[in-house]
Amino acid sequence: MSKRVFSGVQPTGNIHMGNYLGALKQFVQLQRDNECVYCIVDLHAITVPKDPKELRENILNVAALYMVVGVDPAKSTIFIQSDVSGHAELAWILMCNSYTGELSRMTQFKDKSRASESAPTGLFAYPILMAADILLYDTDIVPVGSDQKQHIELTRDVAIRVNNKYGDDTFVVPEGRFLKEGARIMSLDDPTAKMSKSAENELSRISLLDDEAKIKKAIMRATTDSDGEIRYDPENKPGVSNLLTIYGALVDTPVAELERKYAGQGYGTLKKDLVEVTVQTLRPLRERYTEIRASGELERILADGAERAGSQAEIVMKRVKEKFGLGL
Ligand code: TYM
Repeated sequence: MSKRVFSGVQPTGNIHMGNYLGALKQFVQLQRDNECVYCIVDLHAITVPKDPKELRENILNVAALYMVVGVDPAKSTIFIQSDVSGHAELAWILMCNSYTGELSRMTQFKDKSRASESAPTGLFAYPILMAADILLYDTDIVPVGSDQKQHIELTRDVAIRVNNKYGDDTFVVPEGRFLKEGARIMSLDDPTAKMSKSAENELSRISLLDDEAKIKKAIMRATTDSDGEIRYDPENKPGVSNLLTIYGALVDTPVAELERKYAGQGYGTLKKDLVEVTVQTLRPLRERYTEIRASGELERILADGAERAGSQAEIVMKRVKEKFGLGL
């Protein structure tokens, strides 16, 4: 049966292999049999100060990348979060139904704020805006990487809490969807940290628009270990295991099969082959990206998406306001 799917990506530039293998790949898989809504979450992006020109550019960049990897605007709704006012509106209502205690336990907040008193309030409330994104569309499934697990749990907790108070038909309680391989891609230079858009070292990630020289440099320099054996063992061999995971996810091959293929071979061979596979995967994406950005189609697609998302959101907002006794 067709389900409602919702997910989002922050327009912060550097969309990387982790975003692709953890989330974007799922977006494409799911759109065949489900009703999918994919958002560019610009309101989330401003929890950290952003240059307005760069932000606008990055929004179009993510929209283009959605399409480049295979999200089809004829099948799925693609839109910008701030174009639908219900997100911020519902976030406020949910804020009044969540606890400062549960928000202070969010590891992402703890990492990003470093307990500073001058951390923006938006950074603290961030997971509630994310809950609003999801609940605003009566979402059944949220395809994400495993770093978002805690936020999805919070969304479920808040939805269930509100349902207990205002009636079970207030919110659909969503479920996260995480891939077995790809849900957590690690940084190439430090395989104990997740690959991230904001890491200072460019060589810590492969961005989807990287050229061949950069891909080669990042992979060939990736941190491994000194025992020389190609084996999947994330605890003791996080670097090699991460390369195997990326490889396996890119070519849709189980890691065990790759282990067999590379038994007795050196890290250099594995890395060289991974460069090849990555370049093959990303080259057509880069070409399509240039075409889409040049076509001038994006603005129309995003305006159309905002209209579709807006009418869906309106139905849920009306229901929620009625339940809470808000407005006329
Ligand atoms: P963001 O923009 O940081 O990341 C976008 C998606 O990529 C996944 N991801 C990863 N997956 C595997 N390995 C990694 N190293 C890796 N890094 C990132 C993320 O899990 C995510 O799925 N809060 C969200 C955006 C958001 C959202 C939502 C998502 C806002 N509202 C509603 C789903 C539903 C975020 O910052 O993702």
